[in-house]
Amino acid sequence: MASHALIEKFQQAGQGHVFAFHDELSHEAQRHLVNEASEIDLAEVARLTGSLLGKEGAAGLNLDGLAPAPFEPLPANGGDAEAWARAKQAGEEALRAGRVAAFTVAGGQGTRLGFDGPKGTFPVTPLKQKSLFQVFAEKIHAAGVRYKRPLHWFIMTSHQNHAATVAFFEENSYFGLDKGRVHFFRQGRMPAVDFNGKILMESKGTIALSPDGHGGSLRALERSGALDLMQREGIDTLSYFQVDNPLVRAIDPAFLGWHLIHGSQMSSKMVPKAYAEEKLGHFCVQDGHSVVVEYSDLPMAMQREKTPDGQLRYRAGSIAIHVLDREFIRKMAKSGENPGAGVSLPFHRADKKIPTIDAAGHAVKPGQANGVKFEMFVFDALPFARNPLVIETSRADDFSPVKNADGVDSPQTAREDQLRQFARWLNANGARIQTDASGLPAMSVEVSPMFGYDEDSFAESWRKLSLAPEVTEGLYLS
Ligand code: UTP
Repeated sequence: MASHALIEKFQQAGQGHVFAFHDELSHEAQRHLVNEASEIDLAEVARLTGSLLGKEGAAGLNLDGLAPAPFEPLPANGGDAEAWARAKQAGEEALRAGRVAAFTVAGGQGTRLGFDGPKGTFPVTPLKQKSLFQVFAEKIHAAGVRYKRPLHWFIMTSHQNHAATVAFFEENSYFGLDKGRVHFFRQGRMPAVDFNGKILMESKGTIALSPDGHGGSLRALERSGALDLMQREGIDTLSYFQVDNPLVRAIDPAFLGWHLIHGSQMSSKMVPKAYAEEKLGHFCVQDGHSVVVEYSDLPMAMQREKTPDGQLRYRAGSIAIHVLDREFIRKMAKSGENPGAGVSLPFHRADKKIPTIDAAGHAVKPGQANGVKFEMFVFDALPFARNPLVIETSRADDFSPVKNADGVDSPQTAREDQLRQFARWLNANGARIQTDASGLPAMSVEVSPMFGYDEDSFAESWRKLSLAPEVTEGLYLS
């Protein structure tokens, strides 16, 4: 679109201020601004500011008919061990048949961690200081070797971190993966607005754009051609996980098998919440649909409710690990093009401090929230999925996210959880590592995912060792 036509469209939409400084910009800066502006769907912005900034957006969650979602418990917690074994077998068959790919959402801004660079490049392992990306790469590589079928890996980046992410893989020779099977694509962006719905400018020639949330992954998979590539490769099942969780079973045959046997379009893993106030979303059902209700939305009195046997009633905590069906993703992405139809992911508002400029063009660093970002959440696809399924997983083997610089969910807790896991695997196979009551060993050891990426593969490799190594400080099994 010619720039004057675009400017006029913005004026008509009450967003003409985006071009207030257009005429004083260099040609190149003008082009940049026009490019950014043409990315914006003004009708979508108007719809969102109408619904989310108005009364409707402020209304609380509708709790009518809300109940905890059922889930498949682990065999150790009363689940059907044979059904779990069948699921694992089905997942393994799918892996051998090349039907599965890994998918990491890595487009977040990671503001809480405050690390300078893409979060996936953050060093996390206790001894070798491997990055999150390397840990996942090795798990994916190991699964490919085990099932004699190298996997494709899709990685969603943001405009901000795309180049740095690709460069990191290049510098590290893709951690031994076949480069042709690692696919990066950028997610979409949304403009931030002030509390009156006016698009915020970051500078005179730059719009305050930010990633559209992990829910944006569904339409980004479609727009980038990733779904078509999957189809050509015979991949119909995607193992979805976040970039911040070094413990994740990136490829979990039992989870994949449960999903496939159940004919599910979107499956999820839960862990029992450790305590009522733990900040996890809750798997629930409402009107026959699966939903995740965020901790900030479920009244605390409900989060504290107990069942007669003393367990939390809403205990199924969401840890953002899913299996998704390719064509379900396509359906969700396509219906997003028709927002009026009501079958697309909703946007949520997040009030933030957004650096911007004032009417005179001077930079403003706000001390408190001055605007709203719009984000989609992937779990909002659940109500649209056929046969959604929730299975239990063991937190110790699947979930220890790095969110904050320190305190809970920090590099230190993730490091300790990895150490606990390695010590547990070693001790289960005859080593005698001293641990404290929480299972944390006094010494630092590390297991490469190439040696063992879960209890079974670890035990297998351990048995194959001609001579068991001395288990001392600094032991690295690879
Ligand atoms: P978080 O909710 O932890 O957000 O993302 P974040 O942006 O990474 O971190 P903070 O809140 O600024 O500290 C959970 C997962 O979803 C991905 C993140 O990369 C992470 O894997 N994500 C989040 C995206 O891929 N895109 C987004 O727009 C948001």
